[in-house]
Amino acid sequence: MHVPNLTGIPETMLWTLHNRAGEALHENGIIRDPKCCEIYKALDYDFERSFGKADGSHAMRSCFFDERLREFLARHPDGVIINLGEGLETQRFRVVGDEALWFSIDLPDAIAIRERFIQPDEQHRHIGISALDTRWMDAVPNDRPIYMTAQGLLMYFTPNEVKDLVVAMAERFPGAWIAFDHIPEWLSRKTQGGWQKTPHYRTPEMPWGINFTEVEQTFRQWVPGIQAFHQTHFKMPRGIWRYLGPIFIALPFMRPIAPGISWLQFAD
Ligand SMILES: C[S@@+](CC[C@H](N)C(=O)[O-])C[C@H]1O[C@@H](n2cnc3c(N)ncnc32)[C@H](O)[C@@H]1O
Repeated sequence: MHVPNLTGIPETMLWTLHNRAGEALHENGIIRDPKCCEIYKALDYDFERSFGKADGSHAMRSCFFDERLREFLARHPDGVIINLGEGLETQRFRVVGDEALWFSIDLPDAIAIRERFIQPDEQHRHIGISALDTRWMDAVPNDRPIYMTAQGLLMYFTPNEVKDLVVAMAERFPGAWIAFDHIPEWLSRKTQGGWQKTPHYRTPEMPWGINFTEVEQTFRQWVPGIQAFHQTHFKMPRGIWRYLGPIFIALPFMRPIAPGISWLQFAD
């Protein structure tokens, strides 16, 4: 058994792992992920004490990101995948990308725990550096199509940090895709007031809150010439929110204030 010894934002990788593993271990789970289950079982950590009962939100998010990536790889099998803040995500074991070049960018402590379970190689590179430190971009070849993902990452940055990172990526990787999830302003405020998710776990602050209906306009102001922009809301795979979620989202005043996923392609 491995004791993760994580705190602060890196500890949140255990929250998403918990939710993905809960779904992967469910007999009707929407995600099949033996590597995720192996890591989950090998960690000496009281997941339920910290995060409560697993829910399907992060499995659904991963499945959604997987699908977008498969679409990209179908067009560009030799493309470059850059997973920012990847933590203990096991996407590379779920998505076939034998000819692709994969990068995992996370903080040094996070990469260290990832490497207890997942080894880098020539085709799957790990870089222990903040995503905000643009030196990681130097390692990325500039002659191949690029798809970047930021699952559960950008909300931990300030609005200015998100803007600077997005502008840098657009300048450095013209024509690249990026997919990311986002939380609304009210939820960001809640975390900044100290969101006690369970009696034993307070989430880190999530300073970047943006309402669903403002993401496209904001990104178009930051980086001109975005070629494609898409969005979706979170959908829960089971439980009461599987049914209530779509009803809430259909209400005009709820749509802007729900979390979402956006993906877009920068100008060439
Ligand atoms: C909520 S977890 C998400 C992990 C993974 N993407 C997933 O969905 O399971 C947030 C991740 O962001 C990473 N992170 C936090 N700050 C970061 C930074 N400045 N640069 C890169 N990664 C960061 C954390 O270490 C952690 O792995």
